[in-house]
Amino acid sequence: MRKSVIVSNRLPLQITKLENSFLFKPSSGGLATGLDSVHKNNESIWIGWSGINSDELTKKNKLEIKNTLNDLRLIEVDLNQKEVDEFYHGLSNKCIWPLFHYFIELAKFNENDWLTYVDVNKKFCEKVIQNTKQNGVVWVHDYQLMLLPKLIKEQRPDLTIGFFLHIPFPSFEIFRIFPWRIELLEGILGSDIVGFHTFDYQRHFLSSVKRILRYDVDFNKIILSSREVLVNTFPMGIDYEKFHKAAKQHKKQKKSQQSELKIQLDLHKKTADDSKLILSIDRLDYTKGVINRIRAFEIFLEQNPGYHEKVRLVMLSVPSRSDVPEYMKLKRETDEYVGKINGRFATINWTPIWYYYRSMSFDDLIDLYMMSDIAMITPVRDGMNLVAKEYIATRIDSDGVLILSEMAGASKELYEAITVNPFDLNGMAKGILKAIKMPIDEQKRRNKTMQKRLSRYTIKYWAKDYYAALNKLAISYRETTTKKIDKKVLDKIKTKYNKAKKKLFLLDYDGTLVGFHHKPDAAIPKKDIINILNELSLKNEVAIISGRDKNFLEKWFGNLNITLFAEHGHSKKEINGKWVESNVNNNWKDNFIPIFQNFTDRTPGTFLEEKENCLVWHYRKTDPELANDRVVELKTIINSLISENLLMMDNKKAIEITNININKGTAVNAILEKEDYDFILCAGDDVSDENMFSVLSKDAFTIKVGGQTTKASFFVENNIEMIDILKNLS
Ligand code: UDP
Ligand code: G6P
Repeated sequence: MRKSVIVSNRLPLQITKLENSFLFKPSSGGLATGLDSVHKNNESIWIGWSGINSDELTKKNKLEIKNTLNDLRLIEVDLNQKEVDEFYHGLSNKCIWPLFHYFIELAKFNENDWLTYVDVNKKFCEKVIQNTKQNGVVWVHDYQLMLLPKLIKEQRPDLTIGFFLHIPFPSFEIFRIFPWRIELLEGILGSDIVGFHTFDYQRHFLSSVKRILRYDVDFNKIILSSREVLVNTFPMGIDYEKFHKAAKQHKKQKKSQQSELKIQLDLHKKTADDSKLILSIDRLDYTKGVINRIRAFEIFLEQNPGYHEKVRLVMLSVPSRSDVPEYMKLKRETDEYVGKINGRFATINWTPIWYYYRSMSFDDLIDLYMMSDIAMITPVRDGMNLVAKEYIATRIDSDGVLILSEMAGASKELYEAITVNPFDLNGMAKGILKAIKMPIDEQKRRNKTMQKRLSRYTIKYWAKDYYAALNKLAISYRETTTKKIDKKVLDKIKTKYNKAKKKLFLLDYDGTLVGFHHKPDAAIPKKDIINILNELSLKNEVAIISGRDKNFLEKWFGNLNITLFAEHGHSKKEINGKWVESNVNNNWKDNFIPIFQNFTDRTPGTFLEEKENCLVWHYRKTDPELANDRVVELKTIINSLISENLLMMDNKKAIEITNININKGTAVNAILEKEDYDFILCAGDDVSDENMFSVLSKDAFTIKVGGQTTKASFFVENNIEMIDILKNLS
């Protein structure tokens, strides 16, 4: 059991079964290479899949693998053939991967794949639960495990959970296509912090949360009923020192120490004074823009015959997901296209493209980076792209040119690269020419700026930043004084209730006794709620203190033996009494009504509710993003006009202006002045209810419905749980 746990589909080691043994090799891909440095420098364990189908393994094999991995603090999750097919190849790589990279036409929505995705996420959850200590921190990674945060949170609320997405989060219009979009978003929101590489992905995610789940978003915080989820941008860096140092060592190598690859690359460089090597490295994936890159190189060769026999494209394509048909197709197309270009332009001394379809060792990669004058990294869509950063890190003399796609997350940090649109083939061909012609001074100036940035925002910085944010949350959760009402607390409430002689219930209405509805008039109390209130009022004093107007309260509760406060205390009706109004001047309403009306006209789905003593502008039904803009605008206007005796309240999906001298707190005080109570239970869900909580003593059971920041001592998740408590007492 550990305090700090990393979870991802891939472990940093990939296992292949040979005839009588196993081959352990490093996994490819930015997630595995990047996180490996974090893991090695930490006390964490890493839970993930070993890359092997467990149906192929005997018990003895499994034990052997387990022991090898355990020594490296790695814990394997077994996936059988069906799971590999449906979870990994299926939903993860035939559906989420293409969709999130905007390849809608490639996304296959298959129900079985989805069900297996759910099951495998549950399988991962079990491993996390078994291996994580009380109050630990779990960091879940990437699109294969988007349901995991929620699954963990449900079973282990003591754990602080971070989720990081390594791929783009698409715009709402794309994301909404996914049939299980609600489950996916809810799954991610089991986390306490959600991280993305770029602000754009963060923005898209928040937009989908607002539009699909209709949760409130306060800047970068998502407000759930019982907690908040922080969303932030954490651009992933590289182990800069590792690459920079390795490059320095390679530079010092004697001829006898040099690799075969380096010798070959050197030979090419000697063919002409102005010879140039252009490098591209990526997994063979349709998101990486391989074909477009080759086409752009072809255009460059067509347009610049003077560079024939001088310029060579070295393309390293790392095999990836080769069981998925789209990847097989891409492999065929790439082979054919490379063959076509080489066939068309090659001479006895020169083949324009050197194409490697395999992965290379770290040392070979360093040689490739160091020997290449230009790196051409042009994905059509990429979460980050670490290769671009690695190239810059190995340029120890600060020369070399990076051509980078503006569709890669890395382009948001590497401004000094030559940025290109990977769909604009002519533009890319021009980019190659520009890179070839770039004067050395300019190369150095650009690279030095990028190197400075990359050496500061390293992978260590990234992990430290994320863990710091997670740990800060973990501490603040433990320090929070508002406690959830569980069985133990409920027993305590009951014991005090049974012993007490004079008991008082102070209850808000909307959000506390009933759920919210688009139209306030439709949120009416069900019969059982009326019955519970009636039961309660037989032995206790009960007051409903609501923002509703007196007509509504009279209609539904007028016949019960309870005290009613309407419009936050502006009107009051005691048991068997008549409605009494407070004596406040309401002329101010005439000034604000035209402003609210103007906003209502400009914002479809909103409406103005005029009560005797307050004005409320409701925006629950409108488009959440439009509402955000309008609310900011409206609040600014109101703040500039409001006088001292008025208060603007930012309620749930409603902006309200009311008289400051009367609020729910003054209503509660009016009741407390008349009697001494030895049991008080007060429940509410909104900012206006905080006024009740703050005037009550510590002995009272103050309950926030929904768990955002509150002055109440306890909270419940929703109005249904609140009704259960009242039922229990009645
Ligand atoms: N890489 C590797 N072996 C290779 C080629 C590349 O380990 O033969 C590494 C490379 O150093 C980089 C990662 O694979 O760290 C690729 O990450 P990137 O973010 O560029 O793309 P991804 O594959 O994650 O989409
Ligand atoms: C990308 C994904 C990773 C994945 C990697 C390699 O970097 O974001 O989650 O591990 O590609 O893909 P693979 O399917 O081999 O794990």
